Amino acid sequence: MVDPAADGVWDAVAVISNEAGVEKRQPRTPEEWQAVRAHAMMLLEAMNLLLIEGRRVAAPGAEAHFGEHPPAQIEAMIKENRPAFIGFTEGVRQTTLQALAAIDKQDVQALVVAGGHLDEACEACHISFWYSIPATLPKAAK
Ligand code: HEC
Repeated sequence: MVDPAADGVWDAVAVISNEAGVEKRQPRTPEEWQAVRAHAMMLLEAMNLLLIEGRRVAAPGAEAHFGEHPPAQIEAMIKENRPAFIGFTEGVRQTTLQALAAIDKQDVQALVVAGGHLDEACEACHISFWYSIPATLPKAAK
């Protein structure tokens, strides 16, 4: 629910440059603005769902991919540090509210900026609770 909703916000605006020229993708009709707004609302509500205590972070038996903490460990980390977890959901909420304000003004540039902030807010939580490799990997020896 989180990822498709965020994609609906991010993919609504883009500048695509290729041999056919430059396409400026943005919502143009009231229906298109309504669609991106619905995605932003879904993302806000998804953050509320993350506040429910005791939820599993993955299906039972799910295994971690390379570079990820195992789900059981993530659940223990969330239990131990719930205020931080809740704080990260708040980061996504605030940046989504920025996106929503841009949508309501039909301000494409502000929506692009809010989308960047949103991405940072997602990654702030992932770095703390999902990825097992440090955010800054040591540089390979030459
Ligand atoms: C409050 C913390 C938190 C926030 C905020 C958050 N995530 Fe996550 N996300 C996680 C955790 C923890 C996992 C790992 C779950 C697991 O073990 O599979 C995860 C996993 C994912 C996955 C992989 C899901 C899968 O099926 O493996 C995607 C995609 C994702 N997040 C996207 C996002 C996007 C996009 C945002 C921002 C709009 C976001 N997340 C915000 C905590 C968060």
